[in-house]
Amino acid sequence: MKVLHCKAYGPPEALVLEDVAPAALGRGEVRVRLHAAGVNFPDVLIIQGKYQFKPEMPFAPGGEAAGVVTEVGERVEGFKPGDKVIVMTGWGAFAEELVVTPDRLAPLPPSMPFEEGAAFLMTYATSHHALKQRARLQPGESLLVLGAAGGVGLAAVELGKAMGARVIAGVSTDEKAALARAHGADEVIVYSREGIRDRLKALAPQGVDVVYDPVGGDYSEQALRSIAWKGRFLVVGFASGPIPSIPLNLALLKGCEIVGVFWGAFTAREPDLHRANVAELVGLYEAGKIRPLVSKTYPLAEGGQAIRDMMERKVTGKTVVTM
Ligand SMILES: NC(=O)c1ccc[n+]([C@@H]2O[C@H](COP(=O)([O-])OP(=O)(O)OC[C@H]3O[C@@H](n4cnc5c(N)ncnc54)[C@H](OP(=O)(O)O)[C@@H]3O)[C@@H](O)[C@H]2O)c1
Repeated sequence: MKVLHCKAYGPPEALVLEDVAPAALGRGEVRVRLHAAGVNFPDVLIIQGKYQFKPEMPFAPGGEAAGVVTEVGERVEGFKPGDKVIVMTGWGAFAEELVVTPDRLAPLPPSMPFEEGAAFLMTYATSHHALKQRARLQPGESLLVLGAAGGVGLAAVELGKAMGARVIAGVSTDEKAALARAHGADEVIVYSREGIRDRLKALAPQGVDVVYDPVGGDYSEQALRSIAWKGRFLVVGFASGPIPSIPLNLALLKGCEIVGVFWGAFTAREPDLHRANVAELVGLYEAGKIRPLVSKTYPLAEGGQAIRDMMERKVTGKTVVTM
């Protein structure tokens, strides 16, 4: 089977497409023929050795995928050959096949194509967990989403609307602004040319109730300075690079919460709540309230280019590698 290997930390151009023998199937494991794998920012980090997990070399990037079960080991319950599934795995999905334990699988909803299944959970489930459990977002509250045309950002826009919030999208270009509006944003700030604080003074004079921040850098403090009394600031990621240092007196003055979001750890520590979240997301998908925007697909051999495009801030919504 073909796999796009990272053999030494480096740029996406250093990934190598290789033919390897299929992994042996152990007791309690499931073999999945992958049809598509989602591209996410952690793929940018993991191939450079900058992610919180450092898999043994060689490894393939790719944290989520969709495909068909081809074989199940002894003592596997709940899945059988022929089942269409979503696979959540920290890495390894830029490959034609993957062997995983069943806790890494969820049924692919019948109405969902493989490409959307591969682009669904990492972003929507992260943003859903962030807005629901971490921010306790309420109908009528205001929500500022930074990086709002990216993967987790666009999911946060759609989910914020579905939860009844007034959504303000922060993006870097007019094209991304139009996309955020098309996915439900009520207002847009193009932060490459407009000051976040100045615009928010006009858009939300009392401050925003919730800030969703997957970008980091200079934007974070500007957004925190515009938060409302008892607001919730969600620390989701640092796609711009620098991890900001925040003056803690701001939390005191605003009476606000600065809340960390770590979806992967949440799924492991609170599996029942995670399963309930996934069921809710599938319901929202089937009701037409959320839908991954797969803006581009790449063949497996060009998975490095997919990661390069994400690094260069070129991606809107989600991209997918197909096998
Ligand atoms: N906490 C969790 O559990 C969790 C789960 C999944 C992902 N994440 C994190 O969330 C962040 C976003 O992930 P994603 O998959 O949604 O990525 P993405 O699709 O690339 O979106 C990131 C957005 O950040 C903005 N950005 C600003 N400066 C950038 C730069 N120098 N390079 C790239 N993007 C830049 C871009 O929007 P503009 O151009 O509009 O500024 C881009 O749309 C990452 O840091 C990722 O690690 C966290």
